[in-house]
Amino acid sequence: AAPQARTATGADTGADPHVRTQQGAHLTTATGVKLRDTDHSLKAGSRGPTLLQDHHLREKITHFDHERIPERVVHARGSGAHGYFEAYGTAESICHAAVFEKGETTPVFVRFSTVLGNRGSMDTARDTRGFATKFYTREGNWDLVANNIPVFFIQDGIKFPDIIHAGKPHPDREIPQAQSAHDTFWDFVSLHTEAQHHTIWNMSDRGIPRSYRMMEGFGVHTFRLVNAEGVTSLVKFHWKPKLGVHSLTWEEAQMLGGVDPDFHRRDLADAIESGAFPEWELGVQVFEDNPEQVFEGIDLLDPTKIVPEELAPVQPIGRLVLNKNTTNFFAETEQIAFHAGHLVPGIDVTDDPLLQTRLFSYVDTQLSRLGGPNYNQLPINRPHTEVNDMFRDGFHQHAVHSGVAPYKPNTLDGGCPFAAGADLSEEQTKAFTDAAVRVAESTKVRENPVSYDDHYSQTRQFWLSMSPVEKEHIIRAYTFELGKCYEQAIKERQLQALANIDPVLCAEVATGLGLPAPEPTVPLTDLAPSPALSQLTGGPWPG
Ligand code: HEM
Repeated sequence: AAPQARTATGADTGADPHVRTQQGAHLTTATGVKLRDTDHSLKAGSRGPTLLQDHHLREKITHFDHERIPERVVHARGSGAHGYFEAYGTAESICHAAVFEKGETTPVFVRFSTVLGNRGSMDTARDTRGFATKFYTREGNWDLVANNIPVFFIQDGIKFPDIIHAGKPHPDREIPQAQSAHDTFWDFVSLHTEAQHHTIWNMSDRGIPRSYRMMEGFGVHTFRLVNAEGVTSLVKFHWKPKLGVHSLTWEEAQMLGGVDPDFHRRDLADAIESGAFPEWELGVQVFEDNPEQVFEGIDLLDPTKIVPEELAPVQPIGRLVLNKNTTNFFAETEQIAFHAGHLVPGIDVTDDPLLQTRLFSYVDTQLSRLGGPNYNQLPINRPHTEVNDMFRDGFHQHAVHSGVAPYKPNTLDGGCPFAAGADLSEEQTKAFTDAAVRVAESTKVRENPVSYDDHYSQTRQFWLSMSPVEKEHIIRAYTFELGKCYEQAIKERQLQALANIDPVLCAEVATGLGLPAPEPTVPLTDLAPSPALSQLTGGPWPG
């Protein structure tokens, strides 16, 4: 649809009790007093000065002065939509979560984003894309906070501030705003070579998607599912777009960044507005929950590794449809608070050290971004189920809590399910239970397992899986981005990493940069190419 086809207000006149149309017959103050005039301040005579006693003037200006909240520290630039998830029932044997019961339809909100640019940055920058889904399940909210790249830059969350500081604009001049083309980024990834796998995905066409509607999504970490018998499985989540995976060319991305910085935002909203509802299938790769948490030699707790789909096929478990645009960007897209730790009974985490850090980080950042501990009361964050927590008070508290005993068990406020010997109803037995996973006897250390040491085999496998045109794009992307570095030593160190990935890739980029190509310093491992990694030879679903 043409952008002009968009309705004037986008207003939702439906039954949502949270929507305030602000179109009543009378304008009022925030405290409900009818106003006569909102265009003239109260002055001593028509030529002033303006009087401090003008409450409406002060209230109007003060509220405006406080309209902005901090943008997200990462993923600041985003765009969202409402929809639903419909389960096929195929996951019932491995997970007892209601969201996966056959035919269960769960409302969702999805927010897509870039990672590094600020709120006003262009949509088509070369970057990773966020793909975060909040499922308002009947057992509470589950957030699948995913990216469009299946691996991450780092293996341990303690380095997250470092990679983000390296990727954000230089602190002296705040340049560049939304690209990986600079010294600190390449300095980091050439020193912390675990980042090479994620980086080659960024340099491939996956770094410049054609549309949010045409992106895969990946949970990255391995998660643990629990079935009705209490048996656990390890899984990796995949979103597969019905429209297939498509990218822009670099030239298109650059031009669109200037001509229409809102390209992806507009594309998503226009598609939904015109009834071409974007759709994905959710699938899982399933692994036995063995004590090693290793599959075919691949450490499932290392977030810089994939499991090729040829080794573990992605099995479809449901579909996602986005069918409603936001009514108000701030209330919904900006105020939504995703958290990798928002889990529901049947879905649990693993010990992946990146995931473990995320479990702390999201709530912490939202405390300052959303102004205190009560942001789950915001309409977009409220679960579509009963909330009966023990929380009290705090900034922006909207509930009027009754009762005199804000602790449990107690003998003052009536029955309490937590009292010793209390009868647990059927509903309560379905409550969240942490999977009873054995923690190996161990010593406190600050080190990675040796399985985390191989930074190049899968990076090379990705390269070897590409079609000739995709390889050509990757060479050009490295050459352009590295060409923007001022420091020659950084270019040389990154060329060394490229030599360890593939000598041809290294030689081509070195020629482009006018530098000599170094020899590999590690043995090159030839893992079998994985056709599913290629946008041209893979497909939304194998076959
Ligand atoms: C957003 C931290 C790794 C996906 C965020 C935010 C923080 C954060 C602080 C901003 C949240 C907000 O303001 O509401 C971290 C840390 C990580 C990490 C500390 C590693 C230790 C990852 C990984 C993924 C991911 C591995 C993908 C699997 C996202 C997405 C968003 C986000 C999609 C945007 C959510 C939204 O649209 O509101 N992350 N992150 N992050 N993160 Fe992470």
